[in-house]
Formats: sequence, structure tokens, C-alpha cells
Amino acid sequence: MKVTKAVIPAAGLGTRVLPATKSMPKEMLTIVDKPAIQYIVEEAVNSGITDILIITNRGKGIIEDHFDRSPELEERLLASGKQDVYEQVVGISKLANIYFVRQKETKGLGHAVNCARSFVGNEPFAVLYGDDVIIGDDPACAQLIRAYEKYGKAVVGIKEVPADAISKYSSLKVDHLEDNLYNCTDMVEKPQKKEDVLSLYSILGRNVLTPDIFDILDHTQPGAGGEIQLTDAMRVLAQTAGITGVDFTGKRYDMGDKLGILQATVEIALANPLLGDSFRAYLKEIAKTL
Ligand code: UTP
Repeated sequence: MKVTKAVIPAAGLGTRVLPATKSMPKEMLTIVDKPAIQYIVEEAVNSGITDILIITNRGKGIIEDHFDRSPELEERLLASGKQDVYEQVVGISKLANIYFVRQKETKGLGHAVNCARSFVGNEPFAVLYGDDVIIGDDPACAQLIRAYEKYGKAVVGIKEVPADAISKYSSLKVDHLEDNLYNCTDMVEKPQKKEDVLSLYSILGRNVLTPDIFDILDHTQPGAGGEIQLTDAMRVLAQTAGITGVDFTGKRYDMGDKLGILQATVEIALANPLLGDSFRAYLKEIAKTL
């Protein structure tokens, strides 16, 4: 079955980016000229996704506004002859069919995904974490969808993380299949002891899940950090049907982390056709003083 639906969990509290995220959702933090979540929606659309459910909560209303029409602004832009910007602004509201649901309590990523059950129905669906921006020529989500179409199993986007950071991520048991594809048979969220580390491969920001995940989530108890962890539910899939891991191409930026936000800003600005050259010249000047 074709994957046309995506879920973007964006209801986290963003405590690692405080105080910026006290009233501003981290998913709305700007990278050069667009909020992070717009890069993520565009990646989904470029991967063939037509319907997107964004999981929000209190205080995240500006995410809805961003993907809505803005008649007063549009009129003003047209009246002042700013056709290009007008088209960009209107285009945001036409990217996909975008729906919103609130996660009423912030009980973890697994709990957030479980809020998507009625939107998803009985279809496979993509999950794009709202604070993970991935930039690359081949959209990461599309790479995962291709692996789903090939192997017919749930898929996780994976990358190796440094050994001293694995306790903050998930750790996967993987066997190599072909090229950048792996078979994953076990996983653990935030391993605290060395003997719990299965490998340095971790799930980073993207999954394609099958609808059987919802029944599993219904029975998933709070895990690491007292939250209902998506990893704990996916572990059941990994141990039974197996999950395909895709060591995806593309650069991932963690918008839930202050250094990640700075890296995204610098690298995406350097690649920007309008700003790149002047920003590069500026950085070179600054670099001389470092
Ligand atoms: P994170 O664990 O990175 O988000 O979740 P967080 O809870 O905001 O992080 P802290 O507070 O800085 O440690 C990954 C994704 O899952 C969403 C987040 O918005 C983020 O996009 N999420 C997390 C939810 O939607 N609901 C939750 O209950 C937890």
C-alpha cells in the first residue's frame, strides 16, 4: 500500500532550548527564512505525502497559523507589488492537506503518535519528528518509504552516534542487509549501562510505521524518563516482524538542541542562493578573529 499519510509530533516541551521555547514552539524556530517545521512538511511533500497530521498542544497555535491563509498580509503584499513573497506565503497553505490534533498531556513521543490513530486508519504512515530537520537531495522520508515498499516492514531512519552520546538516544541491534539497509531485531531507549548498548546505531527523526503499532502503544507502559516511549512499542515490532533500518543520506539538525540550531542556521544559510555568498564572506572575516 502506498504511503501518503504522515504524522509530525510537535507537542514536546522543548526544555533543552529554554528560555527560547517558553512560549515559542521549538518547531517554529527559524532557520534562515523558514520555521523548522516548514522544512519538515516540505520533505514529506517531496516524498509523496499528501496528508499530514501535526500533533500539537497548548501554546502551539502559531503552527496552525503558519499553514493557514493570511488574507490581510496577502492583500498587502499584492497591493505593494510583492508578487514573489505573496506566492511563497500562499504556497505554504497549499503544501498538503494539513490537520491538527492536540496531545492533551505531554506523556511522551509514543503517546503523541497514539493520538494519530483515527487519522491513520489502517494504512502505513510516516512519522517525522517535529524537531529533526533533515536536508538532502533525496528526501530522508522518501528513502524510508522506498525501503517500506521493498521489504513490507516498518522502517526506521538510523545513523551512528558517538559512543559518549548513545545514552541520550536509542540503541539498535542491527544486521546488514544491503547497501545502507539493515534488519533491526531489537532496540533500547536511552541505554544507561554499557551492557545495554546494542550498537551505536540510533533512530534519528524518521520512521514508517504500520498501523499495528497503535494496539502495541495502547499497552506500552512509561519507560525512560517516565514517558511512553515510541521506541518501546517499536521494539515489539522489531522482535516479532523485524524492522528495516535505513542509514539515510542527508544532514540532520537537532532543533531541540542549542548547538543543533546554530549548525542548521550556518549550514543552511551557506547553501542559500541569495544569502550564501555574502554570509560566506562574513563568516570568513569572523573566522580570522577566532
Ligand atoms: P523530544 O524528546 O526531542 O522533545 O521529542 P521534548 O520532549 O520537547 O524534548 P526536551 O524537553 O527538550 O528534552 C521528539 C519529538 O517528539 C515530540 C517533540 O515535539 C519532538 O518533535 N513530542 C515529545 C511530542 O509530540 N509529545 C511528547 O509528549 C514528547
